Amino acid sequence: MSILFHNVTFDKINIYKKTIKKYFKDEKIISINDYKKFNDVEYAIIWDLPDIVLSKLKNLKVIFSMGAGVDHILKLKNYDKKIPIIRIKDPEMGKRIANYSLAQILNYQLNFKIFQNSQNKKYWSGERTPIDNENLTIGILGLGFLGTYIAKVLIKLKYNVIGYKKSIVRSSNIKTYSKKNLNKFIKNSDIIISILPATPQTDNIINTSFLKKMKKKSCLINIGRGNAIDENALIKHLKRNKEFYAYLDVFKNEPLKSSSKLWTLPNVTITPHVAGVTAIESAIKYMFKKYKMYKKNNTLKSDIKSIKNFY
Ligand code: GLV
Repeated sequence: MSILFHNVTFDKINIYKKTIKKYFKDEKIISINDYKKFNDVEYAIIWDLPDIVLSKLKNLKVIFSMGAGVDHILKLKNYDKKIPIIRIKDPEMGKRIANYSLAQILNYQLNFKIFQNSQNKKYWSGERTPIDNENLTIGILGLGFLGTYIAKVLIKLKYNVIGYKKSIVRSSNIKTYSKKNLNKFIKNSDIIISILPATPQTDNIINTSFLKKMKKKSCLINIGRGNAIDENALIKHLKRNKEFYAYLDVFKNEPLKSSSKLWTLPNVTITPHVAGVTAIESAIKYMFKKYKMYKKNNTLKSDIKSIKNFY
């Protein structure tokens, strides 16, 4: 039987292929060009698979997302909910996304954006007092696997950390707010890190009313999905509030169009969806572990149900 591997987006695709071959020794690895072998495909390791290809995989047993997100699968019309989806829950990815978050928090609290804008104008802006970690409350909007990982890293560094989850289903020592007290979560945060998945419930959750409740001197980091932010509302907010910063890694439409106003606002930093780059070896190892569980039990618990509960 075979594994269909498809990803035309990520860096280092050849290393992915080699690593998949190294672990999944008993399976043939095929690509979307091997359409004559589609009936042999039982497993798919994918990112952005065309829907038409999915419709042809009649013997598919398990889908492995190559990232933490599964929106690229759920949006496919031919996705059959009975097929379990496994997404990457990997501490190595956690380390990367926590580093990214920390870099942007430090950028904000040490005024680096201001100094960068001054440098562009060859202007010596003079001393500015940084904000100390103990005086910052970081609100993690989306306390799932990765959100919790980031929270733990920040707590070790003496930041105050609070979290938001749609419904609180797990006990945790992080002060967590749910839907009914979202406003309190917003008001109590100095910095908000959005790490929400793309679901109908998270669409434009960060809208005008949300932004107005945030502190004027504040910062928003988006490392979840772009659907969570009403981009026009954010642009208006950034224009009105010069001491409000946005560090954006994900967008409604990627790549972000060159016509987007976000590129040119002085209080915005843009990165190209790189906050939580998949760590190849550990991700494939994780998939292999799940694959062996499936082989042993002939069934596998899908990650989809848990995603619904986590955020
Ligand atoms: C990246 O966005 C991922 O889902 O891993």
